[in-house]
Amino acid sequence: MSATPLLELRGIDKSFGPVQVLRDVALTAHAGEVTALVGDNGAGKSTLVKCISGIYSTDAGEFRFDGQPVSINSPRDAAALGIEVVYQDLALCDNLDIVQNMFLGREKRNGIVLDEPTMEQMAAETLAGLSVRTVKSLRQHVSSLSGGQRQTVAIAKAVLWNSRLVVLDEPTAALGVAQTAQVLELVRRLADNGLAVVLISHNMNDVFAVSDRIAALYLGQMVAQVKTTDITHSQIVELITAGRSGGLGIAADATPANGNGSAPAAPSTGGTR
Ligand SMILES: Nc1ncnc2c1ncn2[C@@H]1O[C@H](COP(=O)(O)OP(=O)(O)OP(=O)(O)O)[C@@H](O)[C@H]1O
Ligand SMILES: [Mg+2]
Repeated sequence: MSATPLLELRGIDKSFGPVQVLRDVALTAHAGEVTALVGDNGAGKSTLVKCISGIYSTDAGEFRFDGQPVSINSPRDAAALGIEVVYQDLALCDNLDIVQNMFLGREKRNGIVLDEPTMEQMAAETLAGLSVRTVKSLRQHVSSLSGGQRQTVAIAKAVLWNSRLVVLDEPTAALGVAQTAQVLELVRRLADNGLAVVLISHNMNDVFAVSDRIAALYLGQMVAQVKTTDITHSQIVELITAGRSGGLGIAADATPANGNGSAPAAPSTGGTR
């Protein structure tokens, strides 16, 4: 894998009024890899994603894309960099067909009329390139698709627009077993095609099945970002629920920055990476 991450965040702070939701958060995502973003309800995952997609501005911190410092102040900035976010429900319009959804707001024109044949062909090629076989007609309304098929169309849309980083916020939360497997396969294929993928999931089986790295958020802090092969299922669960596991995560003696130092003995070799 390339040494420079495609996306690198450092020191991200985000508050809503008096409530600090993200604190000094770092995150990297590499091309060709799936990075799973895990954390309990309310840990700050969706907020972090909205900072990446330009919906929220950050209070502090640094963004790098392809090694270059960038500022993302709107969804348009994120899209221009090739960042696409797939949300569970809001991704598609029910009353439009698959092709219309994939080109919504970015329609191809031939003079003043829509260039339907070109759009249909591009949509077909994109779906075929992702080995999507379950969709019967590109002209069926999205309302007639299953949850898994909708997710597939939303992901294919991200691919069609030459995204370089795709963020999926709980893409399998509402899906059955077979559909989940299909979507995970697609997620893996995106990474194998060279995209960087950030996958938010509460399902540890999915996380271990598909990710190369795992980033764990605990109460707005990034407590670990590790290779999936270097960590166990139960360690991740500990990081999610307690913020630490053995030498990983926030230190056992971590006290608020007011410095009353009654720290209990902690392992001195901090192997946290
Ligand atoms: N617009 C907002 N205004 C105020 N507080 C917010 C806002 N959005 C999120 N929060 C708070 O920020 C914290 C993190 O929320 P966020 O939605 O990022 O969590 P999450 O990790 O995505 O959780 P889940 O797994 O339940 O989706 C929560 O305590 C939430 O109440
Ligand atoms: Mg969320």
